[in-house]
Amino acid sequence: MLSKSMEKALGNSSAIREVFEYGQKLAQEIGEENVFDFSLGNPATRAPKKFDETIINLIQTTDSLKLHSYTDNSGIAAVRESIAANLNERFGTDFEAGNITMTVGAGGALNTVLRTIVDPEDEVIVFAPFFSEYVHYIGNYYGVPVIVKPNLTNFQPDMEDFKGKITSKTKAVIINTPNNPSGVVYKEETIKQIAEILSEKQKEFGKEIYLISDEPYRELLYDGAKHYFVTKYYDNTFVCYSFSKSLSLPGERIGYIAVSNRMADSKRTSVALKTATRILGFVNAPSLMQLAVKECLNEKTDLTYYETNRKILLEGLTQLGFTCVKPEGAFYLFLKSPIEDEIAFCEKAKEYNLMLVHGTSFACPGYVRLSYCVATEKIKRSLEQFAKLAKEYGL
Ligand SMILES: Cc1ncc(COP(=O)(O)O)c(C=O)c1O
Repeated sequence: MLSKSMEKALGNSSAIREVFEYGQKLAQEIGEENVFDFSLGNPATRAPKKFDETIINLIQTTDSLKLHSYTDNSGIAAVRESIAANLNERFGTDFEAGNITMTVGAGGALNTVLRTIVDPEDEVIVFAPFFSEYVHYIGNYYGVPVIVKPNLTNFQPDMEDFKGKITSKTKAVIINTPNNPSGVVYKEETIKQIAEILSEKQKEFGKEIYLISDEPYRELLYDGAKHYFVTKYYDNTFVCYSFSKSLSLPGERIGYIAVSNRMADSKRTSVALKTATRILGFVNAPSLMQLAVKECLNEKTDLTYYETNRKILLEGLTQLGFTCVKPEGAFYLFLKSPIEDEIAFCEKAKEYNLMLVHGTSFACPGYVRLSYCVATEKIKRSLEQFAKLAKEYGL
């Protein structure tokens, strides 16, 4: 018999997966070229050549017994050292190897952090719209997700609602910039305000409130948008990073957590992260991948690919009369549904072979998400289908 919590998780199956699977079935019937699947955030660019070359080189030059063995639970020291130095150079931080814990992607990083700090009934604040897995991740440790309502004006967090949602039970706050699903990048002012509010609330409640910065899209920025490194603004921050999107390696499951020495009890916290990695059963991040990303810290994916798709989609949909949130990062476009019931809108879109994800699954009804990890040629052709869809709603 399955656990009650798993029965519940099965009942709340992912809207993203559902629409993706529907698209796959449809492709079998009418041909893959006729299905316009904007559902999954699966990178559409290739991993950098240097990454593949590094793997080959590692296999050819390293004793396989060493290469594939268990590593320290927090990761290989030389890898963590290189990551710390790279972050210091790029963001003016002051990390050392001891501040870095290698993880199984951002998903693994988030679970490791939550396992480290959340007690049952602790509240964890998330800002809508948010990556829906957060609710499951928080639930894994019997924490309670508390949702700050979306700010539909510019999709920066609603600070008044945020302040009101912080209680003596608040243990952590998760932010995600560039954001999935809105594509919005938080301004420096936003990060400063969150830090100020949390500092005040820490004093008021006499306890630590942690900020968890989930940043797998940190390197995917457009139009000169900037990423502000959160440990510089708030000491009690866990940065959860992943190479899934930045180097197009989602299946390889590699990322890390960075904490600053200025975090409360930072040394013990790092030991706790290492312990959490072990007792969650991850044991360590994949050994070959740790060594490979070490050599690719300054590599970039082909950003122009996403930029082109973003431009075509944003301009095309706007010209058709749709209202879009302008994406400054990641590879998602958030579109305002022309009718209040965006789930019905997604169903209608399916009739035109357009696979979109409803905003309700990101706690933001009235909007739909398009992932533009799709061939550019297909994006161009999809606009003909969107034109028909727009007509349905008199746009
Ligand atoms: C906002 C956000 N956080 C975390 C993840 C998980 O990333 P990873 O593949 O590194 O586990 C994703 C994946 O899509 C994401 O969109």
